[in-house]
Amino acid sequence: MPSPKLSLQTTTLWEYPSQHYGKGEQGSADYRGATPSWVIWNLLQRYTQEGEVVVDPMCGSGTTLDVCADTGREGVGFDLQPHHPGVVESDARDLPLEDSSVDFFFCDPPYGKNLKYSGRKECIGELDARDQAYFDAMKEVFEEAWRVLKPGKCAAFYVCDVWTRQLMVPIGTHFVFMLNQIFEMVDHIAVVRGNKDLDKGNYHKAAEETNFFLRGFNHLIVVRKPEWAEDEGEAGGRPKSKRKPQDGGEGSRKRGRSGGGPQKRRRGGKPKGGRASDFVEHERPRRKRRPGGRS
Ligand SMILES: C[S@@+](CC[C@H](N)C(=O)[O-])C[C@H]1O[C@@H](n2cnc3c(N)ncnc32)[C@H](O)[C@@H]1O
Repeated sequence: MPSPKLSLQTTTLWEYPSQHYGKGEQGSADYRGATPSWVIWNLLQRYTQEGEVVVDPMCGSGTTLDVCADTGREGVGFDLQPHHPGVVESDARDLPLEDSSVDFFFCDPPYGKNLKYSGRKECIGELDARDQAYFDAMKEVFEEAWRVLKPGKCAAFYVCDVWTRQLMVPIGTHFVFMLNQIFEMVDHIAVVRGNKDLDKGNYHKAAEETNFFLRGFNHLIVVRKPEWAEDEGEAGGRPKSKRKPQDGGEGSRKRGRSGGGPQKRRRGGKPKGGRASDFVEHERPRRKRRPGGRS
């Protein structure tokens, strides 16, 4: 049965009764941790135009690529362990892309160790969200987003807080704080989670008896790389400050593209500089929709 008709969300509380839209499936419902495709659809409607380049550095089962194909955007997907023929293997902290070459950046990272992904040591899902190492790794992803985004363009990060062993880790709140240090804040949206798995076991009973709340929403944090990054020679490389030149802050000092601040460390000495369009696959196989998945 087709999903209900998609429409633009108009408040900062987003909800839709299905993981996928239309008659098909975007990404794979079998991939644990797949992003609800309607969230990406709404972001693309709001923050991109047809033909623009959209990068997802943790693309997993390729939901972002499928939504891009549906909406006429140039989707470019990377993951440590691709689960879609169009996704290219890469570390999200070191993308093979030129500086300031991307129109929109979407990222749904692991929420600490909530799910098992590739198990590789570079997988951010191997890091416990209670440890600083998780946030240090995500800071590198945020800085990579800054590097590859064109000035004036947006990024969105989709994340859930975690509650483990009597401890709530407010990942979303930490992300808002960290992203606000780097980018201009555009918006902060709560997306209602429709995780059907929670209806199967004793989760709700346990939540009542042990006095905790199951996570009911994800954070969707939308940020922008400011236009002035271009003028200040900060368009690529590591962001030093999000303050405008006239603020008299760190950003007021003139720097060349490669001077002034700490330079980005290259992982494994990989050469950089691919065009995003080199990774665009124009004819992608479509998959049939299956029910379920993370929503
Ligand atoms: C929540 S899932 C993303 C799901 C994806 N949006 C989809 O709809 O299928 C998180 C993904 O991050 C990937 N990942 C974890 N650490 C990574 C890293 N350092 N670089 C690239 N991908 C990474 C995992 O392999 C996993 O596929």
